[in-house]
Amino acid sequence: MFPEIERVLIDQATIAARVHELGERIAADLLADVARTGRDQIVLVPILTGSIVFVADLIRQMPIKLSLGVVAVSSYPGQSIQSKGAALRGEIPRDLRGKHVLIVDDILDSGRTLGLIRGLVAEQSPASIRVAVLLRKSLTGPRAVEVHADYAGFDIPDEFVVGYGLDFDGYFRNYPQVAVLRREVS
Ligand code: IMP
Ligand code: MG
Repeated sequence: MFPEIERVLIDQATIAARVHELGERIAADLLADVARTGRDQIVLVPILTGSIVFVADLIRQMPIKLSLGVVAVSSYPGQSIQSKGAALRGEIPRDLRGKHVLIVDDILDSGRTLGLIRGLVAEQSPASIRVAVLLRKSLTGPRAVEVHADYAGFDIPDEFVVGYGLDFDGYFRNYPQVAVLRREVS
């Protein structure tokens, strides 16, 4: 069905187990924040489009009261593999003051995307800001923008991956595992 896939890096069962674990831990941490601060509003800010599969699974492992405020960022113009920078598309939620915010993305690579969104969230003086990513790439050098991921599902080598929300040129987001494409494709 997906002849372009060369090999699976993280299979479906492994992803599911880890997302379950992360959801429980993040929910517990957010509830502790609520208790500590007396502020009870929790907002998840998923970064479109890559985080949709991850966040859909993650929130169903978080049995707490929360809302979603999506943001859209484009970071891979055209077919380029290298991140060219991050640009906000459309609006960012404007009502984050005093709330506990969890920014969710598919992958932390150069850090530009999460750096941009974290900055825009921070300007609104939320009660707390956390960052969760499914994948964190291990780079040899420093990231273009140093962003701390409070929660990372998996550390992966510096390879281009697709599946579970991650795309190549808009495709493969529906592939249910994290995989590497054949060299001639990417
Ligand atoms: P950063 O801004 O360089 O950290 O990249 C973050 C964004 O680039 C993610 O939200 C992804 O959409 C995309 N990205 C980075 N690495 C990959 C990859 O290996 N496969 C697919 N998309 C990627
Ligand atoms: Mg993306």
